[in-house]
Amino acid sequence: MIDPMKANAEPLKSDRRSPEVARRVLQWFDRHRRSLPWRAASGQRADPYLVWLSEILLQQTNVPTATPYFEKFRTLWPRVENLADAPLDDVMRAFSGLGYYSRARNLHACAKEVVRRGGVFPASEAELRALPGIGAYTAAAIAAIAFDRKASPVDGNIARIVARLYAIEEPIARARAKIAAAAAALTPTERSGDFAQALMDIGSTICTPRSPNCLACPMQFICAAAASGDPQAYPRKLARKERPARRGAAFFAEAVDGGVLLRTRPLNGLLGSTVELPGTAWSVDFALEEAGAAAPFSAPWRLTPGTVDQIFTHFSLRLSVYAARLLERPPAPEGCFWVGRKALDDVAFSSLMRKAVMHGRSFMEQDQSGPAAKPVNRRPNGPSTKRRSSP
Ligand code: ADE
Repeated sequence: MIDPMKANAEPLKSDRRSPEVARRVLQWFDRHRRSLPWRAASGQRADPYLVWLSEILLQQTNVPTATPYFEKFRTLWPRVENLADAPLDDVMRAFSGLGYYSRARNLHACAKEVVRRGGVFPASEAELRALPGIGAYTAAAIAAIAFDRKASPVDGNIARIVARLYAIEEPIARARAKIAAAAAALTPTERSGDFAQALMDIGSTICTPRSPNCLACPMQFICAAAASGDPQAYPRKLARKERPARRGAAFFAEAVDGGVLLRTRPLNGLLGSTVELPGTAWSVDFALEEAGAAAPFSAPWRLTPGTVDQIFTHFSLRLSVYAARLLERPPAPEGCFWVGRKALDDVAFSSLMRKAVMHGRSFMEQDQSGPAAKPVNRRPNGPSTKRRSSP
């Protein structure tokens, strides 16, 4: 049994137990590996395009969420050339709901760059990193999984495993270099890709954040956190920083034919080039009374009950939604466009805006009150809370 206090010393840049760790981990992987659509059969080389695609789609999300996206992308664009040739709009639409849209743009740019280089992905971490959208983690994952290079991708799951193995006392954010060095020291020179994928699987199924199943873990024999008797106490937590709370309002205008008024966000910045409802800026000092200035036109706007909430990395957002039913389909104001009811499913909304559109739509469907109204081209006053409809 390891003495957790001793193990807590500086994690080793080389660990003499590494070969035995790798042997046990790879043996575990051969028996328990998850069958995932981008993985090659045991002993086979994976397709670098599919490995790259899966790693991009898995950034900031998990296997159950990313898998249907992966299947959709693979069906639409089975080869990197097909993806490179696709219109960016189609790629954005296929990516819709998966998070930051700069990732979709980079995905497309990377496919184009790889095709420019003859359709072949580079094998080294350094060359992979030079491609759009590929950071240190993704480069290491592709190098290891697709090319069996000795590389040690460290994502949140693997950082947690390493922090536990060595009972690291600093929170992960302050121990990144230490964790990376320890992960590299454990990585075998052969079957590095399987070793990385084994750690990913162990992180997802055994060494989970809240209730690690240490008895099933092939690394238990060196794990200082398991030896301490309280493995979930690692990784140590960083004191939580409060996220600023931003607020804003969006306007759901439904034309007589069911069309909805939309606009596209600027290319650069948060949710860049995704489609949204027109609305106010999102800010910490937002005042609902002033939201009307951002209405696209004058209409009998009603404040819908409830809000649409979303947590972003650096702030939380609470969006109020105004809705109006119109007697006609007026010309779209500058910067906006109408999208017909059926085509809405295919719009490249962010998940926030898809929620906001559904919020507006379900309000309209439940709303029995009042006839539709003709919009007036620009309204002097926006909506006011006085018009709030009661639920
Ligand atoms: N998470 C990130 N990359 C992964 C992969 N290749 N397999 C399983 N989970 C992952």
